[in-house]
Amino acid sequence: YLPPFLLLSHHLSRCTCQNLLPSYTVLCAKTGLLFVPPNIDRQTAELRLMDNFITTLRHRDFANMTSLIHLTLSRNTISQIRPYTFADLQDLHALHLDSNRLTTLDDSHFQGLVNLRHLILANNQLHSISEGAFQDFLETLEDLDLSYNNLVDIPWETIAMLVSVNTLSLDHNLIESVPEGIFSNLHKLARLDMTSNKLKKIPPDPLFLRIPVYAKMKGSPLTSLVLSFGGNPLHCNCELVWLRRVTREDDLETCASPKDLAGKYFWTIREEEFVCEPPMITRHTSKMFVMEGQEVSLRCKSIGDPEPSTHWVSPDGKLIGNTSRTICYENGSLDILKASDSGKFTCIASNAAGEATAPVELVFIITHIPMYTSHSLFNTYFFSSLCHINALCHINGTKHAP
Ligand SMILES: *[C@@H]1O[C@H](CO)[C@@H](O)[C@H](O)[C@H]1NC(C)=O
Ligand SMILES: *[C@@H]1O[C@H](CO)[C@@H](O)[C@H](O)[C@H]1NC(C)=O
Ligand SMILES: *[C@@H]1O[C@H](CO)[C@@H](O)[C@H](O)[C@H]1NC(C)=O
Repeated sequence: YLPPFLLLSHHLSRCTCQNLLPSYTVLCAKTGLLFVPPNIDRQTAELRLMDNFITTLRHRDFANMTSLIHLTLSRNTISQIRPYTFADLQDLHALHLDSNRLTTLDDSHFQGLVNLRHLILANNQLHSISEGAFQDFLETLEDLDLSYNNLVDIPWETIAMLVSVNTLSLDHNLIESVPEGIFSNLHKLARLDMTSNKLKKIPPDPLFLRIPVYAKMKGSPLTSLVLSFGGNPLHCNCELVWLRRVTREDDLETCASPKDLAGKYFWTIREEEFVCEPPMITRHTSKMFVMEGQEVSLRCKSIGDPEPSTHWVSPDGKLIGNTSRTICYENGSLDILKASDSGKFTCIASNAAGEATAPVELVFIITHIPMYTSHSLFNTYFFSSLCHINALCHINGTKHAP
């Protein structure tokens, strides 16, 4: 709604937009537009195109609109933005694209928006955003709204660079995890909404520890960070104690697990009840016989809360990683594609509550057993002991059969 004395009817082909003087505002809301009218004054400072049926944004739609400061395209049916559509909008401060049908954003979509402060993308169907999508306004953006989309993953490294961001709305998505420390450089962050996602945990962040955090806006001092995280399947173990210690305003958050805390209100649970279980190695290979150069799989299974991660240390004390010869799986197994070291390997299972270790011995078997001993008592004993320890018997057994 605008003061009527400013209204000046202006006819554009195919639709009627109102050209509001003297501020160069063009208002084309609810005019049944199927595309952006081609003859909008290039001097326009504010262009409102909400509540139409625009499906595609093309480069020529906003070409040469170097004075445009505010562009509203809310509530259309936009599913496509052609590359460099906004490339000429170097003065644009606010871009509203909420309630459309966008699914992906790549590096070219927002290129040229070097002064953008408000980017509203709520209520689309976004499931993918490239790392470089916000490249041109990393330092100017103050308000980023990605709420009500289908995002499982967010370009976190990009978020970490939004040094001017004040409001970050990531609520109502499918986000499963937040990397630790991602908000630590966002010194101006005042509101972070992560409500209704799939988060089981929220890592402590230097930012949260520095400023008092409040769960709700009401009554919180201006300098504080308002953090909302209700509606997530929180796993309330010791890793969330830090969050339990922050100041709170409401009781909407609940725990989804562990079992005895499921459904309980987050803020009513005592700090001591947020517990972790140190790792316990439940099953592991104890001794494995293998021929040098052969492939071998060593196992190490552990339990704990949070789920332990497993590492392997070689007989010479080095941490084993993924290489061309070794693969460490999440389930704890270590595949050695070409056995070259024998001796004592160590499996280490660790989590926030502690660690557990288990020795795993790898023994090289002699590859050339003299023929005359192949049916000897010694050989029978040798292979039967292998069979007893692992399943190598039939592999190596047949290899050495005459
Ligand atoms: C933009 O400006 C260029 C150079 O002045 C001109 O050639 C082009 O036709 C203009 N495009 C539009 C859509 O006004
Ligand atoms: C090593 O590779 C496996 C299989 O590709 C993968 O599942 C695992 O996460 C990798 N481990 C590390 C430590 O990168
Ligand atoms: C661990 O995962 C790997 C790769 O998915 C699989 O080959 C292996 O059998 C698994 N080990 C166990 C003990 O489940």
